Amino acid sequence: MSFDQAFVTLATNDNYAKGAMVLARSLRNHHTTSKLVVLTGPQVSDPCQSVLKKLFDEVRVVDVLDSKDTAHLAMMKRPDLGVTFTKLHCWTLTHYSKCVFMDADTLVVSNIDDLFEREELSAAPDPGWPDCFNTGVFVFQPSMATYEKLMQYSAEHGSFDGGDQGVLNGFFSSWATTDISKHLPFIYNLSSIALYTYLPAFKQYGGNAKVVHFLGQMKPWSLTFDPKAQKVRGGSQDAVASHSSFLLDWWTLYSREVLPLLQEHYGDQPFHSGCVEEEECQEASAAASEASRLSSEERRERWERGQADYMGEDSFENIQKKLDAFLK
Ligand code: UDP
Ligand code: GLC
Ligand code: MN
Repeated sequence: MSFDQAFVTLATNDNYAKGAMVLARSLRNHHTTSKLVVLTGPQVSDPCQSVLKKLFDEVRVVDVLDSKDTAHLAMMKRPDLGVTFTKLHCWTLTHYSKCVFMDADTLVVSNIDDLFEREELSAAPDPGWPDCFNTGVFVFQPSMATYEKLMQYSAEHGSFDGGDQGVLNGFFSSWATTDISKHLPFIYNLSSIALYTYLPAFKQYGGNAKVVHFLGQMKPWSLTFDPKAQKVRGGSQDAVASHSSFLLDWWTLYSREVLPLLQEHYGDQPFHSGCVEEEECQEASAAASEASRLSSEERRERWERGQADYMGEDSFENIQKKLDAFLK
């Protein structure tokens, strides 16, 4: 066990806490020898806090920082992301010499302990703007001095996207041009959006993924899962389940290794497990499909904003069907 290095994540509410739990299991299943740390806020319920304590070596309750930058967040259509400023607390974990931050919506599919050989600030390109790094996975060195400089920087300059990614790219502004060893290969932070923007590359290299990032508004936990049929449903179409094996990986891990712990800690209290029987699933998915049917104009706009419905209307199969029809 490497006591001076840690994987760190953040969960300010119960939904993201579920993501953090799955992430922790995925790291352990791939035999990490590092510590696991989760930063949480007071909004996380007691049963979820207890499960986090079982799965992480350290659960640290921090002040939730919010950029409250509604103007910039509106540009991303993600008003909820102001609280990602809370991520900056990770620099205060000075009892570790090196850490890797991972969003709670990431899933590890292969051992990534080699990341600790990298220096601050190492990260993979953002799929939307590759001269920026994506802050879903990054290597950093905890330091109070850096933390204070970051706080000062964000107070003076704010964030161009209203979230942590805007601040961190402003602060570590030489990332794009100075040191290639700080560019993590994309397979360390593979966002499903890659499937749209460069489908042949996804087919060629997607199988080498080490970390999958469910970036965007729709998260695995906002869908439903039928454990008997082993199918994920919801979103706008049933294509959800069929094409995304990563989504199925997430739900399989959640239902086998996290749900039993949640059930144990919730006891008789009701909670939303996300797992439903076939019929309930179909009802849920029909309702979701009706609610989210968008005009093609709206869909194109969303795609251009990086919010493609990659599980549904814009699924791999649907895109391929359209391409085939077009080529004919
Ligand atoms: N996060 C959180 N609570 C929130 C929103 C975000 O704890 O209400 C954390 C969580 O770790 C999440 C990260 O901040 O993974 C970044 O947000 P998200 O993954 O939703 O952004 P995206 O990657 O989709 O841009
Ligand atoms: C991004 C990143 C996420 C970050 C958010 C806000 O899309 O994936 O990690 O928190 O922007 O800056
Ligand atoms: Mn994310």
